[in-house]
Amino acid sequence: MASEKRMFNIRTGTVYFVGAGPGAADLLTVRAVRILERAGRVVVAGSLVPQEDMGALAPKAQWIDSAGLTREAIIEALSEGVHRGEVVVRLASGDPSLYGAMAEMTTELDRREIPWEVVPGVSSVFACAAALGRDLTLPEVSQTVILTRTGSRTPMPPGEDLESLARHGATLVIFLSIDRIDELVDRLMTVLPPTTPAAVVARASWENEIIVRGDLETMPPMVKAARIHRQALMIVGRVLDPELRSIARSRLYAADFSHGFRDASAPPPPES
Ligand SMILES: C[S@@+](CC[C@H](N)C(=O)[O-])C[C@H]1O[C@@H](n2cnc3c(N)ncnc32)[C@H](O)[C@@H]1O
Repeated sequence: MASEKRMFNIRTGTVYFVGAGPGAADLLTVRAVRILERAGRVVVAGSLVPQEDMGALAPKAQWIDSAGLTREAIIEALSEGVHRGEVVVRLASGDPSLYGAMAEMTTELDRREIPWEVVPGVSSVFACAAALGRDLTLPEVSQTVILTRTGSRTPMPPGEDLESLARHGATLVIFLSIDRIDELVDRLMTVLPPTTPAAVVARASWENEIIVRGDLETMPPMVKAARIHRQALMIVGRVLDPELRSIARSRLYAADFSHGFRDASAPPPPES
């Protein structure tokens, strides 16, 4: 049976968990912009999403900052909009599936029989990679990216401690931890050499974005000198090594590699 193309319709009386992207309003998806235009109410994680630029995208909406609200109050605000027949948006930073506390809201919405949908966004991990102009994967260097954080009030599950993850040698992307940079780096250096390349990007895509490049050992003093305390990601791994970057070559684009779109044995086209 031929698969049907799924049409996306914006419905009133529905909660949309919308990824706001990393901050710049022009990094919202087209779908997110269309939903915001129709929104009657936007419940936004105010500290992470710059509302000055995004406010204009939802001109009819009542904006509610969830920064000072409890989970119950956020769910109430979402439900109230639905009962008023509005298009309701829960605007989350980056992509809602990463550290977005979506499950605890959607399970309660299910219990209340309130329909909801998720609209993906550009995660800060990709905005940071873009700001650095670097691949997170390189052939024969790292083909795996680990997205993680350090535990604080939210403890890390067994086996997900930083030291265990670092042992894989994969690219590490560390969220929500920049305020503990000394501890973070000390722990990583029990497994990785101090010269392991590292970078921190703060407020990627914002006007006041800051980029710090170096290695594990140099990262803490540089991050402190740049006064970065929050809203930042640390990326660690050999993919950031400029030398490896210049020699890494993929098989896909190698002249002797055939695949579905190119026959390496075919004679080259005649010169014109
Ligand atoms: C609650 S988490 C949300 C992550 C988000 N869902 C995402 O996909 O990017 C917030 C953390 O994401 C990172 N973050 C969010 N926006 C960022 C940005 N523009 N630049 C750098 N890091 C950012 C920081 O580590 C911040 O502490």
